Amino acid sequence: MVSITSTQHVPFLSALSESSRERVLDLATELKVHRGEQLFHTGDPARQCYLLLTGKVKLTRSAKHQPAPARPGTGGRVNKVQQRESLLWIMGPGDLFGELSVFDQGTRSSTATTVTTATMLSFEGSQLAALVGQRQDVALAMLNMLATRLRRSDDHTTGMVLSDVSGRVAWLLMHLLERFGPDSDPVANPSWVRHDLTQTELAQIVGASRETVNKVLTDFESRGVIEVRPREVRILQPQRLLARME
Ligand code: CMP
Repeated sequence: MVSITSTQHVPFLSALSESSRERVLDLATELKVHRGEQLFHTGDPARQCYLLLTGKVKLTRSAKHQPAPARPGTGGRVNKVQQRESLLWIMGPGDLFGELSVFDQGTRSSTATTVTTATMLSFEGSQLAALVGQRQDVALAMLNMLATRLRRSDDHTTGMVLSDVSGRVAWLLMHLLERFGPDSDPVANPSWVRHDLTQTELAQIVGASRETVNKVLTDFESRGVIEVRPREVRILQPQRLLARME
């Protein structure tokens, strides 16, 4: 059986009775994955699902994008269809992923790539699904994970549809603070939030170009709302970001 030191930051495990937790850990294989490795690709057939213990994993999807045609008389060429990558979300410690295709027997709905070195538990999906059928607490913990994900996904959709790019970046920064920031009060004690994403990846979450996101971050920084360093941000005035989201 895999032994993990604390389930405090792993809601899926901490919600279980001791005996169910032991059964779940009995089915797990522990993996250490280096940064930049792809765990699976959109459209792949699926067998495993994963519970992240440390590090971060990004979930991406690419879609065909037809750039606007060049205006007549500007000497432009017909623009080719491009692949555009969107970043659905960034998974952190305690997140379970890869379960959708295990439960609906479909193929992978997105590509999963580590953005840091990560440790995780891998489960044979059919075994986990059987345990969901046998144990109510495992089924409820799984539903809880899915419900939390759906809420966040709805929130993401609302944030992305309603706002301009500054509003979307403000939304993203507040979510990164909530997900990866310290537990202490961010207003009284603003500290660096390590998100581990490049500006290109931030842009892929909010559906804008890297240049536009860079301009927005520089603007927020010049107004003293945030401080930016590669792959981390410090939010000095969260209330101004909240106001920007309205
Ligand atoms: P699966 O389709 O097996 O593989 C990709 C995984 O990404 C999927 O299971 C979910 O676990 C996860 N996933 C899909 N869509 C989202 C989303 N919008 N936000 C967070 N995670 C997602």
